[in-house]
Amino acid sequence: MSTCTKNASAVVGLQWGDEGKGKLVDLLAPQFDAVVRYNGGANAGHSVVVAGERYSLHLVPSGILSPGVFAIVGNGVVVDPERLLEEVDTLESRGVDTSKLVVSDRAHVVMPYHKEEDALREELLSSSGVGEKTESSGVIAAIGTTKRGIGPAYADKVQRATAIRVGDLLRPEILREKLEMICSMKNAIFAAFRPCGTTCFDPDEITEKMVELGSRLKPMIQDTAYLLDDVRNDGGTILFEGANATMLDVDHGTFPYVTSSNSSALGMGPGTGVPPQAIGRIIGVVKAYSTRVGGGPMPTELFDEVGDAIRVRGREFGTTTGRPRRVGWLDLVALKYAAMISGATELCITLLDVLSGEEELKLAVGYDMPNGRVDRFVADGYALADAEPVYETMSGFSQDITGVRQFDELPAEAKAYIKRIEEFVGVRVGIVSVGPDREQTIIRD
Ligand code: GDP
Ligand code: IMO
Ligand code: MG
Repeated sequence: MSTCTKNASAVVGLQWGDEGKGKLVDLLAPQFDAVVRYNGGANAGHSVVVAGERYSLHLVPSGILSPGVFAIVGNGVVVDPERLLEEVDTLESRGVDTSKLVVSDRAHVVMPYHKEEDALREELLSSSGVGEKTESSGVIAAIGTTKRGIGPAYADKVQRATAIRVGDLLRPEILREKLEMICSMKNAIFAAFRPCGTTCFDPDEITEKMVELGSRLKPMIQDTAYLLDDVRNDGGTILFEGANATMLDVDHGTFPYVTSSNSSALGMGPGTGVPPQAIGRIIGVVKAYSTRVGGGPMPTELFDEVGDAIRVRGREFGTTTGRPRRVGWLDLVALKYAAMISGATELCITLLDVLSGEEELKLAVGYDMPNGRVDRFVADGYALADAEPVYETMSGFSQDITGVRQFDELPAEAKAYIKRIEEFVGVRVGIVSVGPDREQTIIRD
């Protein structure tokens, strides 16, 4: 049993995803013995750029590019085996060593019917458009999911009897028996919504496919809770890699426009089996502005040419789905709340370079709600839709900062912007990212 030493750190997104977590994890990974994903699945898209080479990671932890570091897919992740193996093949073909990749036997499997269920549910909800209010009730709308089967896979995990775990892929008889029952239930549901026979899952076919995928995965499958405990007992250190982000957390985000896991730092324990007292440093990653993909409220969203310019400069198009990301000013009310929920001990501000060229920078410091002004976040997707941001305006900067490596060398306006964020949130900014490459990073003392 490991001691109470705080030998684990974490990188977690504090907005609606795509804050640059992958870049930071890749940068920090060589300082650790293991990098572990604890939540989400292939809905995540983490980009890492090393010497101009871009890697897009969805299920494989971003520590994979650091030789000798365990890259662990924890039990809290929902694993699409086909996608995981495709990712492994792509990495191998680019010369990346994947021999330290380990997958929890207790991680749940995203099955083919989960992706269909995800698509069907979105289809049924989307008659009113993504995240928009309907004429009837104003509350039924598509979530705008990535359609990677994430929600249905987590739903089956909670249902228990209809769930398949990674370990089950190595037990063909049990798998076949389970799939017989599961397919009959799923097929009945699909038949109720789609013309008879258009969506029909065959247990034999799925068993055969999954057993084959399982045999390829077999060398990677382990009890990762014990592996992580062994790393800590041997004096090693662990880095948690958050996927999705705090504002998409199923309990603390802008529900129902969230993902289906605890994607804040709170998911780390259940998603890995590492106890809370092991975790010391929690780096909250924050884009210098806001983005969101899919539906749901975003009080500071921009619909003008400023938003368009930021979208283009920041290349704000999804790593996973290619969808244009919604863009807005930095929301300090939401950020302060997210830092509280995820227990951020420091902040990493990313994509600061993208703001260069804006004459003015706006920061939301409160919301006007139907019942008056508030300075606390409204963690409810329906109520937040009524929030009108109250802005503070600061001077922008126009210099190209992508080559800056020392905090003091940033333009005065950029430093003032960062200091205002620190002051409002009450957490220090320890890292500033000024470009996608590993090298384009300012580490403050
Ligand atoms: P993640 O999901 O949090 O890992 O973030 P993504 O990789 O989905 O999205 C972040 C995007 O911004 C990627 O294309 C990164 O290569 C890029 N990026 C990361 N940090 C910076 C930065 O400081 N400046 C710029 N211009 N791009 C960055
Ligand atoms: P990374 O790790 C941005 C969003 C989807 C959708 C909602 C639910 O790259 O930051 P889901 O498929 O999870 O059921 O979709 O959550 N979403 C993300 N947005 N980055 C992500 O991951 C996301 N993961 C989920 O767009 O609005
Ligand atoms: Mg992403």
